[in-house]
Amino acid sequence: MTKEIHLTGITTTGTPHIGNYVGAIRPSVESSKDHSRDNFFFLADYHSLAKAEDPDRIHRSGLEVAATWLACGMDTDNACFYRQSDIPEIPELTWILNGVTAKGLMNRAHSYKAQVQANEENGSSDPDKGIIMALYNYPILMAADILMFKANKVPVGRDQKQHMEMTRDIAQRFNHRYGDILVLPEADIDDNTAVLSGLDGRKMSKSYNNIIPLFAPEKKFRKLIMKIKTNSLEPGEPKGTEGSTLFEIYRAFATEDETKAVEKLYADGIAWGEMKQMLFEYINDHIKPAREKYESLIADPSIVEKELQRGAEKAREISKPYLAEIRHAIGIRRLG
Ligand code: TRP
Repeated sequence: MTKEIHLTGITTTGTPHIGNYVGAIRPSVESSKDHSRDNFFFLADYHSLAKAEDPDRIHRSGLEVAATWLACGMDTDNACFYRQSDIPEIPELTWILNGVTAKGLMNRAHSYKAQVQANEENGSSDPDKGIIMALYNYPILMAADILMFKANKVPVGRDQKQHMEMTRDIAQRFNHRYGDILVLPEADIDDNTAVLSGLDGRKMSKSYNNIIPLFAPEKKFRKLIMKIKTNSLEPGEPKGTEGSTLFEIYRAFATEDETKAVEKLYADGIAWGEMKQMLFEYINDHIKPAREKYESLIADPSIVEKELQRGAEKAREISKPYLAEIRHAIGIRRLG
């Protein structure tokens, strides 16, 4: 029986925060334990070049993302856990896909268009000012990540929907031209997965500088939770849960019964300070064992490195022969 293939990646541009945990890390760790499917999870480190980050930051982020996945319990025996840049077949496939990707398709990418628009709004004479090809070609590299391992399901956030449509479009064009070789993937966008707000109430994101790192040291973690924005209702005044960042975060970690109990506390007028302390204690208890594991991995990255090497070996057993097949199909083959 062939198993369904699930694959997802995380770009190595930041420190994993509780929004990443709830949205991507926790679901993928759960998936890694599911023996009814084949799982691929990877560090999208070449994608980080689209943001032109500092090399040390990219390197550190790779360690932090990998250590987070491992500390949270990723089952690396059942899942292929690797680093994109350890699989040379991925950039090779990217180039091959360049041969079937319409430039017009890339022109329509949201993140590219947003930068063009910013240039126009700033009155720049060049709409492409400051835009690098790594940003422009980002969707093609992502398509290669996915198509390289014949993924059927790709769990991603809503913001990645367009990239998934582009991947399917590219695969279809390829197959139309060269035969039925690539597998069309489906986006797996879970509308029930919470998208957490950050300290200031906007979506938690590195670019807004409003994140709560998942494994911030306990003291710092508490301090950040105390900073979360609330309204100005006084202790004793009944409070609504709608739009409350504290509530939203609590709910993302707690059981249904626990959440109901907190709804009642809100209605009864819990003080914001008290709610913050409760939230801190709850999450802190929840992540403490994983935080300890994380700290030990950060202190000894060689363990993480070994896992990634092992994963790359497993991944290349698949990518090498498959890329050979793809190259053959497009006419890049030996002469005799
Ligand atoms: N673009 C994705 C993000 O920003 C990360 C990513 C890169 C990815 N390659 C992927 C996700 C392949 C899924 C599959 O979230």
